Amino acid sequence: NDLYAVVGHPISHSKSPRIHSLFAQETGEAVEYTAIQAPLDDFDGTVRQFFERGGKGLNVTVPFKEQAWQLADQRTARAAKAGAANTLFLDEHGKLVADNTDGCGLVRDLTGNHGLALGGARILVLGAGGAVRGVLGPLLAEAPAALTVANRTVAKAEALAVLFQDEAQATALTACGFEQAQGPFDLIINGTSASLQGDLPPLPANVITGGTTVYDMMYSLQTTTFNQWALDHGANRVCDGLGMLVEQAAESFRIWRGVTPQTTPVMDVLRND
Ligand code: ATR
Repeated sequence: NDLYAVVGHPISHSKSPRIHSLFAQETGEAVEYTAIQAPLDDFDGTVRQFFERGGKGLNVTVPFKEQAWQLADQRTARAAKAGAANTLFLDEHGKLVADNTDGCGLVRDLTGNHGLALGGARILVLGAGGAVRGVLGPLLAEAPAALTVANRTVAKAEALAVLFQDEAQATALTACGFEQAQGPFDLIINGTSASLQGDLPPLPANVITGGTTVYDMMYSLQTTTFNQWALDHGANRVCDGLGMLVEQAAESFRIWRGVTPQTTPVMDVLRND
């Protein structure tokens, strides 16, 4: 079997080994996929050792996505702009290539699994960290009418709006603080880690109407804090990040194996695990 792994710290909670085993079963690909906890001070050594021992590909998760991006010899266009990488592999010359499949995974989940039309939509994205930076390019490629990045530290949102301005062809791309977000929005995507601290971004209630879909990039068995807040304020629909997780994994699998796995059966299995 060809060896793949996800690297992070901590890593025991990762669903990637389960997801990729299901993909391997479904496609009949000879893939073995494990989880590796890299020491916080030796991500690079862990990656080098993995590939020296014949490993074929890595997924990278918190807190190493920026380091993976740094370490790579080459980056795909979408990874270059994202400034973070979640997928590593060697090219035919043995060079380490970094890709980022997070944004593609989010867009596929929104449009394919949830049936949302992003073209012409008014979108609010919360947060301006690595998670958000990874998804802005693919979201803008769908040509929403407006995309507002709101963040606790406004300067970080403003910097992202400047960085991605060249990809915002048909889209009014703007930045603001949470309190200044000017609704209503068709779609609100939470890419902050606020809920990890049980916090809610202080948004004006009028960002949500009965037509608003809310997507929390976090995945949890219970309704997330943010999605509960959205439901309490009359959101039409709330989604968590499970679909994004499975779709980004499917895109990594495709890059490594040249085979695109079916994602719906895998999401069903994970919901019932
Ligand atoms: P990630 O890789 O998950 O994006 P990150 O780069 O550390 O992690 O970014 C975390 C994001 O969540 C940031 O946008 C952060 O806001 P700041 O840029 O102001 O730090 C946001 N965040 C974290 N804790 C938060 C909280 N309690 N309330 C609101 N936003 C929060």
